[in-house]
Amino acid sequence: MDATRQHFLMCRPTYFAVDYAINPWMDPTAPVDTELAIRQWEQLRQVYRDLGHTVEEIAPVPGLPDMVFAANGGTVIDGKAMAVQFRDPQRADEAPAYRAWFEAAGFELYDPKHVNEGEGDVLLVGDLLLAGTGFRTAHASHAQLQEVFGYPVVTMQLVDPRFYHLDTALTVLDERTVAYLPEAFSPGSQAVLRRLFPDAVHATMADAEVLGLNAVSDGRHVVLPAQATDLAAQLRDRGYETIGVDLSELRKAGGGPKCCTLRLRQGRASK
Ligand code: ARG
Repeated sequence: MDATRQHFLMCRPTYFAVDYAINPWMDPTAPVDTELAIRQWEQLRQVYRDLGHTVEEIAPVPGLPDMVFAANGGTVIDGKAMAVQFRDPQRADEAPAYRAWFEAAGFELYDPKHVNEGEGDVLLVGDLLLAGTGFRTAHASHAQLQEVFGYPVVTMQLVDPRFYHLDTALTVLDERTVAYLPEAFSPGSQAVLRRLFPDAVHATMADAEVLGLNAVSDGRHVVLPAQATDLAAQLRDRGYETIGVDLSELRKAGGGPKCCTLRLRQGRASK
């Protein structure tokens, strides 16, 4: 299996906190250790660098505690960047910050017409875009994604509020394969996933409950939460190299490695 060098955008969790609850993982009364979150995030960044990937950083903005979840900052494919529109007002001001970064980086910009939470809900597998809906990204935005990027979009209906973004329920392993939690999807979407990916890895609920599917693969190495031991074993059986990372502090906001990582597909720095 070949690894593809990746180009990522990340945001240091300088102002990370759990001040509000917009998903079932978040409990504003539970303590959060921001220093530990920063150390865990730095370890994730180091893993990427050690794998030979390029990590760019966007400056964190005070008062935006979820900005660390860069996957929600946009969708970037073929040098085009589609900006985002958040469902919740608490995250609304992240959208212009990320948009400005894409503009300065020279991407061709597109503005969303509907709620769209970026790569949290939009995953490219080979030449297919899987797009989640049900909790955050509006179904209507799927049509815009197809128009902007020119890849066929397949709608994935999410049904479990703990797995509110597509990237909490499904991981792209390479151009042909995914891993997912079947129960996180409607019966119809499960049937579509079986049809598209008959060889997919099925994760267990125990893996998903530690956000194990919130993983980042370069086609060979899969960076995933260290606690997702069953999933890691299944992936190793399939020939992937797994790298466990501990992002326990960020999980208190409902995020894991993939949430912290936006894939930049072409653009200024990759040229
Ligand atoms: N607290 C954030 C929210 O609920 C977590 C976002 C996680 N990001 C992701 N791509 N799943 O919006």
